Amino acid sequence: MKLKNKDPQIAKLIELETFRQKTSLEMIPSENHCTPAVQEALGSILTDKYAEGYPGKRYYSGLKYYDILENLCIDRAKKLFKVPHANVQPYSGSPANAAVHLAVCEPGDVTMGMALPMGGHLTHGWKVNFSAKFFKPVQYGVDEKTGLLDYEGMEKLAKEHKPKLIWVGATAYSRIFDWKKLGEIADSVGAYLVADISHISGLVAGGAHPSPVPYVHIISTTTHKTLRGPRGGMIMVTQKGLDKDPDLAKKIDKAIFPGFQGGPHMHQIAAIAVCLKEASTPDFKKYAHQIVKNAKALAEELKKYDFTIVSGGTDNHLLLIDLRNKNISGADAATRLEDAGITVNKNTIPYDPAPPFKPSGIRIGTPAVTTRGMKEKEMKKIAEWYNRVISDAKTVKKVCEEIKKFCKKFPLPK
Ligand SMILES: Cc1ncc(COP(=O)(O)O)c(C=O)c1O
Repeated sequence: MKLKNKDPQIAKLIELETFRQKTSLEMIPSENHCTPAVQEALGSILTDKYAEGYPGKRYYSGLKYYDILENLCIDRAKKLFKVPHANVQPYSGSPANAAVHLAVCEPGDVTMGMALPMGGHLTHGWKVNFSAKFFKPVQYGVDEKTGLLDYEGMEKLAKEHKPKLIWVGATAYSRIFDWKKLGEIADSVGAYLVADISHISGLVAGGAHPSPVPYVHIISTTTHKTLRGPRGGMIMVTQKGLDKDPDLAKKIDKAIFPGFQGGPHMHQIAAIAVCLKEASTPDFKKYAHQIVKNAKALAEELKKYDFTIVSGGTDNHLLLIDLRNKNISGADAATRLEDAGITVNKNTIPYDPAPPFKPSGIRIGTPAVTTRGMKEKEMKKIAEWYNRVISDAKTVKKVCEEIKKFCKKFPLPK
């Protein structure tokens, strides 16, 4: 029976959300529009089965197709990211990062990660998270003047505290990571280096951001951001990781199951496999490069309207905007933009004098609008809308109408 007959309330909510997505601009940098092919795999009958274990070593029966499926997904991940080992079972990014801790650390071990208010992720050692409750994180940040990752400060901290594990990766950092330098810092203290490429995995896959593979031991990622797949996670081990620790791949697999998770979500793994196939195409390469071109174009246009971009610009898919010269908080700007049909995040800026609930900035990104086919020309228009809405609340209604009309020319992926 069709959902709209069986559960009209839920069907209606999906219909309303579809309309919202079609008629507004999704500019939260961690979000995207996945393809109907990905959605079809995700919404398939594969959700019915338990498949605890790994291909060839399962604890349930009836899994002959699931082993083929998971192996296919693993092979696609290995080929796309050029790594010798991939685990595609993490339910999402946070469980993946918990499993990495579990694989290579003992409770109480010292770890290192970028602090949340500097652009890092909760799971890299922020105080309220498991990663700080069970381990002893030392947190690094960005330079106050340049907004760039403070490699020197990081090296000093690493030498002083000798962490077992170093996290590199961010939720609000718009510059390229110098993986070589980071690898040297980790090697100098014998630490495992993890690249959490959740935000940039689509850019790495498409060649629009340097790959960390030669320099790090472990890579963790979500699959639903620039990679444009379903909500999910993956952990990969590099050759450098296997050279450091020949058991590393086994340790990662054991940490995911039975260490941290139970049955993998096989419908999700099928959808990840589809997204990895999509991400291996020349079209996806173009897409990844266009995301960056759009972000750069947007930054340049916004600067013309006197917006302050943290670090002065972007090399990836996102921009962090410091709104202090615009006399509006990040929270109020996000609400006003949402009313106008542009979805962004309120966000702390590095060394933010304002409280986290009313931070001074917003975080915006181009992955989803690029999926809809928008290019540099459209970024010019979008920057103009940002300027009108932030400068004058009275423009919101008019801009909202303009955006609705504009969105008709850029359908969601087919
Ligand atoms: C860098 C980074 N790591 C991990 C995660 C966690 O992913 P999830 O929200 O899927 O648990 C995120 C999500 O925003 C992220 O940006």
